[in-house]
Amino acid sequence: DAVERGEYRHYMLKEIHEQPVAVADTLEGRLLDGQILTGIFGPQAVQLLKQTEAVQFVACGSSYHASMVAKYWIEALARIPVSVEIASEYRYRDPVVPKNTLLVTVSQSGETADTLAALRMAKSLGYLAELAICNVPESSLVRESALCLMTRAGPEIGVASTKAFVTQLTALLLLALELGRQHGLDATRYRDGVTQLEHLPQAVADALKLDPEIRVLAERFASKHHALFLGRGRQFPIAMEGALKLKEISYIHAEAYPAGELKHGPLALVDEDMPVIAVAPNDHLLEKLKSNIEEVRARGGQLIVFADKSVSRGITHPQETLLELEPCGELIAPIVFTIPLQLLSYHVAVLKGTDVDQPRNLAKSVTVE
Ligand code: G6P
Repeated sequence: DAVERGEYRHYMLKEIHEQPVAVADTLEGRLLDGQILTGIFGPQAVQLLKQTEAVQFVACGSSYHASMVAKYWIEALARIPVSVEIASEYRYRDPVVPKNTLLVTVSQSGETADTLAALRMAKSLGYLAELAICNVPESSLVRESALCLMTRAGPEIGVASTKAFVTQLTALLLLALELGRQHGLDATRYRDGVTQLEHLPQAVADALKLDPEIRVLAERFASKHHALFLGRGRQFPIAMEGALKLKEISYIHAEAYPAGELKHGPLALVDEDMPVIAVAPNDHLLEKLKSNIEEVRARGGQLIVFADKSVSRGITHPQETLLELEPCGELIAPIVFTIPLQLLSYHVAVLKGTDVDQPRNLAKSVTVE
């Protein structure tokens, strides 16, 4: 069936605005009375998740970035070691698989050639089980995995992933909390995590309200050739996703760095021509991030900071740009901060006149190597 663009100029914009519903759909029937329902990962999942002593993620593109966030979540909540690898690398390595390791593949389409090949190769390596986080129920990845958790983003037409990425993160936070519950996560932290998830559709809707401000900001970007995205901890993969979106659809060269790495190279690139975008949620790394922002300021970089409203005071100077997000829980913050970065790349691409939904040289689903 043809998917209608409706009132929206591009599918990507429509899909960005569908995210509160896509997130709510992904949570639908999976939470009850402050708990994650058992069995949402498939038959025998409870037993397998209890047995899991390590997790290996394999994915490509935005799905790889979502997996990277999951590493921070799972290690913090379940105290299980997690590795994340790009599928095209993983499939040609000779990996060592620790006992009772769960393999998790993450893919919107479930047909990405490298991810599928990695799954097939991994099956002979003695993993505990394979779990697919996927948006297409009838895909090869789902058919060939023992366990699955479907994202319910609905069809995504824009080549640059938006609602699929955000629903992957939603599903991965469910997984992290469920693993946490099976591995001794404190009941109060568990309940707080579920409460944050319940609030997520509203938090995403609130973030979308920044759209008019971001449209104005985009005007300053359209003439740029480079941009630097900074984040720390769970926000580092979100900075990577922000840079990927900008590259994909606006063709502006963008790089993401964990802010603590600035001194080890990227600071040399910073001058008054370099926009530097920082994501600043209310978390334990905020003070560290602020000193990285100071390093950029001292070199005259053009600072644009997306900050949690409750901690944004004084984070930028008057000539710099501050965009404030409604306060949200620490666990869901990476999901919420994704939204303004999507909007930024979208508006920059529109101003540059690129083919937003079908960027040059890229495909929605890469089914050949
Ligand atoms: C392509 C798409 C990306 C996507 C990646 C992985 O590069 O353009 O948006 O993140 O493939 O696709 P998958 O379907 O496996 O998530």
